[in-house]
Amino acid sequence: LSVNVSDSRVRKIPHTMFGLSFEEINHSGAGGLWAELVSNRGFEAGGQNIPSNISPWSIIGDKSSILVSTDRSSCFDRNKIALRMEVLCDGNGRNICPAGGVGVYNPGFWGMNIEQGKTYKVTFYVRSLQPMEMSVSFVDSNGLRTLATADITDGNVREWTKKEITLEAKGTDANSRLQLTTTKKCTVWLDQVSAMPLSTHKGHGFRNDLFNMLADLKPGFIRFPGGSFVEGEWLVNAFRWRESIGPWEERPGHFGDVWQYWTDDGLGYFEYLQLAEDLGALPVWVFNNGVSRSEQVDTSIILPFVRDILDALEFAKGDPTSKWGSVRASMGHSEPFDLRYVAIGNQDCGNKNYHGNYMKFYDAIKGAYPDIKIISNCDGSVQRLDDPADLYDFHVYTNANSMFSMAHNFDHTSRSGPKAFVSEYAVTGNDAGRGSLLKALAEAGLLLGLETNSDVVEMASNAPLFVNANDMRFTPDAIVFDSSKVYGTPTYWMQHFFKDSNGATLLNSKLQPSSLTSLLASVISWNNPEDNRSYLRIKVVNFGSSGVILNVSINGMDQSSIEAAGSTITSLTSQNVMDENSFNQPKKVAPITSPLGKVSNKMNVILAPHSLTCIDLLR
Ligand code: AHR
Repeated sequence: LSVNVSDSRVRKIPHTMFGLSFEEINHSGAGGLWAELVSNRGFEAGGQNIPSNISPWSIIGDKSSILVSTDRSSCFDRNKIALRMEVLCDGNGRNICPAGGVGVYNPGFWGMNIEQGKTYKVTFYVRSLQPMEMSVSFVDSNGLRTLATADITDGNVREWTKKEITLEAKGTDANSRLQLTTTKKCTVWLDQVSAMPLSTHKGHGFRNDLFNMLADLKPGFIRFPGGSFVEGEWLVNAFRWRESIGPWEERPGHFGDVWQYWTDDGLGYFEYLQLAEDLGALPVWVFNNGVSRSEQVDTSIILPFVRDILDALEFAKGDPTSKWGSVRASMGHSEPFDLRYVAIGNQDCGNKNYHGNYMKFYDAIKGAYPDIKIISNCDGSVQRLDDPADLYDFHVYTNANSMFSMAHNFDHTSRSGPKAFVSEYAVTGNDAGRGSLLKALAEAGLLLGLETNSDVVEMASNAPLFVNANDMRFTPDAIVFDSSKVYGTPTYWMQHFFKDSNGATLLNSKLQPSSLTSLLASVISWNNPEDNRSYLRIKVVNFGSSGVILNVSINGMDQSSIEAAGSTITSLTSQNVMDENSFNQPKKVAPITSPLGKVSNKMNVILAPHSLTCIDLLR
């Protein structure tokens, strides 16, 4: 590999080059990054009809002691379903309540992670014709061990009343549940029952461990909230920003019919923008353009949808005195969010109404916000787009060999058109397993190609980002978690090799002989803000099953200008190319860094079979 450091034909890699694609899929948000512990907190998941399915809530007690039903008596207009409990037993008399009382419990999303010494805020709305006596507790999954509890009494809850308490856990169980019980004969209504750990990232509601996994990748952008989640199978089930803002209690929630689960929309449009800001990443909002998977809005009647999106942009970017900017301000963010990118739809290009709808959105957005960059769903990598766009979306899901060869996909793309946003890429099928090393190496090949083509590729993100191990409906993914644990797949660790590329300088490098098609490389120079030192980074993927001795020759850089102490070599490899990580072996396939020892501007580096190697030279 030869690198010419003094070659003037260098290029700045865009600051947005590598980022994240977050979709509400696999319970990434609800039951994942969004730290709400209660699932179906408003009893709305069964739909607006009566009786409504209250799953996963369960009843504590039998029919001689409690009758549970739903009605439409909630104080919240947009989510009218409330839970009605008619308690038949009492503290004394003939029908005495069982010892722990009767009531309901919520197991959360496959168990709530309650940890000793940590504090949780429990909120609920209650109404009763009788004085209220209720116990609110976290208990283990058998309902036997109480981890935290508080008794709440109120002589008058004839009108809907909000109750808020904090509970400090005296024990730990990753599979706990929240229960509300009473031993008093009464009829009581409950609604909007929430339990949140007090400690979330900056108090913004993001689960700390999962947030940190994202922050460690130093993402240049975050695309949200999908993916197909944006489209919905049917339009009525698509993500609607307007329904996802404002006080959480008032949000109706919705059934994501593509991935087939309910979300309370606690992680709404505002929270996504906040997430981007907290990550130091630019938000990329993908919105529904009137096209779902099974139905479409005709272009002749698309205008209400266009106006809806303009309102959303005002919500994100408007002055705090503007109509929608003031709603954002009332949610605690008076400064506008730095929303510079929007995508008109997800994978909708082939649809009958896409072109017509697209142009209506495009013209309206450019008219109101000329600086916003607009992303089309149509592929501009091989031919010119029919419609104006700043970027075009490019998705690739394929096997490992073809992903590796995709490194050259943009070599011959026109240099004058809109730039590519490779917003979803992943190896799938047998090569991928649940996240193999092979998958990560093939994807590394793609990213090296994108880095070298970063004059025509502005952004790239792997998909899907997260999977809750209890809902592995779209695999493989980058990050796997359950209620208490998390690990990165090799694909996650592979992305660490690219996290310093955003804004770095791409240097000219050449791999020889060119017949060595199992190797791909890229060289950048970058300044590390942590030590304010300058580095030369050589990344090479060896996609072959044999080791390689790579002769590295750095021209234009004096040997004495490389500092041995501080120069490192990092490798991502494993015994078997199909090796994966797991909760038991979370770092079976993870980068290992060692000091380089002797450094020179001419050196031999051993590349293990099936490996990704990064050589950092401190200058
Ligand atoms: O990333 C998973 C899914 O794959 C996305 O929802 C969709 O855009 C693609 O087909």
